[in-house]
Amino acid sequence: MNTDPGSPLDDEFDEIASELWENNAKWWQIGFTNGADPEYQEQIIPMLADNIDGSHSVLDIGTGEGQLSRVASATPGVDHVVGIDPTWEQISEARARAPRISYLKAEASAVPFADGSFDTVIACLVFEHIADLDGAIGEVARVLKPGGRFLFFLNHPLLQTPNSGWIDDHIIGEQYWRIGKYLEEERSVEEVEKDVYIPFIHRPLSKYLNTLASNSLLLTRMEEPSPPQGFLDKAPQYYDASFIPRLLFLRLTKV
Ligand SMILES: C[S@@+](CC[C@H](N)C(=O)[O-])C[C@H]1O[C@@H](n2cnc3c(N)ncnc32)[C@H](O)[C@@H]1O
Repeated sequence: MNTDPGSPLDDEFDEIASELWENNAKWWQIGFTNGADPEYQEQIIPMLADNIDGSHSVLDIGTGEGQLSRVASATPGVDHVVGIDPTWEQISEARARAPRISYLKAEASAVPFADGSFDTVIACLVFEHIADLDGAIGEVARVLKPGGRFLFFLNHPLLQTPNSGWIDDHIIGEQYWRIGKYLEEERSVEEVEKDVYIPFIHRPLSKYLNTLASNSLLLTRMEEPSPPQGFLDKAPQYYDASFIPRLLFLRLTKV
């Protein structure tokens, strides 16, 4: 499936996306949480821990089964953590894994909290599944206190554009990273493993940065780490391309 953003097929995409997440929440929970995924263990969780210091109240948007809310909640000084996600299968698992954290079934574009409720908002590998980017970034800015921070993790939108990948061309004797149609915004449903279909939305980096800027979210730090060792050990075909980042991290302040 491939639809233009803003087209009448938006609602259809959202409907399909929410059904796919309900059906495939277990795929995420088994493969990417509770220590199963080296990119979380060696990279994302440490980066979150390094950037969350001094926070008291934290909102985790698209919390999934709640792993980053659990990290936030274990951070000294943090006394109020809420995770939201529209997928019931994720929220119910999050509640089972950490009954003392507050998890709510809610969409990124309709956050059920008053203006200025949080001093930190986290969104990790979520916005590449959200159709209403303007609405969702608007909500991040609205619920942050002035001076609050947004910790934003994305699959790298430039280097992980759909149809990008390592090409080892034996005929011409060259190896290179092919970039897909970077400038084209694209909605797709990808088979990430046998019979598991996940909805994705690709957007150029400028689309993210300009939407953040127009919501008074000022970039204060950007990281493009190379994949961690544990990931390369599990995916040795990526070794030659380990100078290509998979992850993008942005830290922004609400001004
Ligand atoms: C790749 S998982 C990431 C989960 C979690 N942030 C983590 O890092 O473990 C993406 C999550 O985004 C959620 N999601 C999808 N559409 C969303 C939306 N419109 N608003 C908020 N979350 C959404 C899905 O239900 C899923 O739990």
